[in-house]
Amino acid sequence: MATNITWHPSLSRRERNQLRSQRGLTIWLTGLSASGKSTVATALEQHLLHLGLAAYRLDGDNVRFGLNKDLGFSERDRNENIRRIGEVAKLFADSATIAITSFISPYRADRDLARSLHAQASQDGSDDEPIPFVEVYVDVPLEVAEQRDPKGLYKKARAGEIKDFTGISAPYEEPLNPEITIKTHENTVEECVAQITDWLVAKGYIS
Ligand code: PPS
Repeated sequence: MATNITWHPSLSRRERNQLRSQRGLTIWLTGLSASGKSTVATALEQHLLHLGLAAYRLDGDNVRFGLNKDLGFSERDRNENIRRIGEVAKLFADSATIAITSFISPYRADRDLARSLHAQASQDGSDDEPIPFVEVYVDVPLEVAEQRDPKGLYKKARAGEIKDFTGISAPYEEPLNPEITIKTHENTVEECVAQITDWLVAKGYIS
């Protein structure tokens, strides 16, 4: 970290949320490739926007075209990928937006780091509003994801043409205590979105 830098305080998060009449938070989807993360995240973003809420989706493939185009799929690069996304999601949430992230984020420690960045943000101002971090496990069996294989990546991974492929030659560490678990092989996209929004309403994060 650089030295001689100073944190500039701004409007409190509570004031910003009040002025924008919504609570900023991060909804963090995690799951295997082809588990349905992007599909659910896109539908959720649209649903929240139609409710008049500011929502913005950060997606694995898309972010790797820009912000994270210098990163590959080694464990170290994935760690850095998720660290950066955690920071960016926190900024969106701090601005009273609902950040929706859809990244495989296969390592528990990386997801916990993203969560802790949000928790630390609540200590920035002594009595400021915390930033909620909602981990959503998109739980589909590997066999289902591999059968879907919309981009043909599992096939290539099985043939050894892609190395370090999650679920085949690189690990996926299941969440131990996610706020929400959705199953896209048992429920429709609309039902999964409703499951998430019902949870947000029950918590008082949206109305
Ligand atoms: S990670 O693990 O969170 O850093 O990955 P993420 O940024 O979400 O990127 C996942 C998408 O990249 C494509 N892809 C791979 N995935 C897993 N392992 C390997 N080796 C790999 N190479 C490319 C793949 O299209 C993922 O997209 P999704 O939408 O998850 O299928």
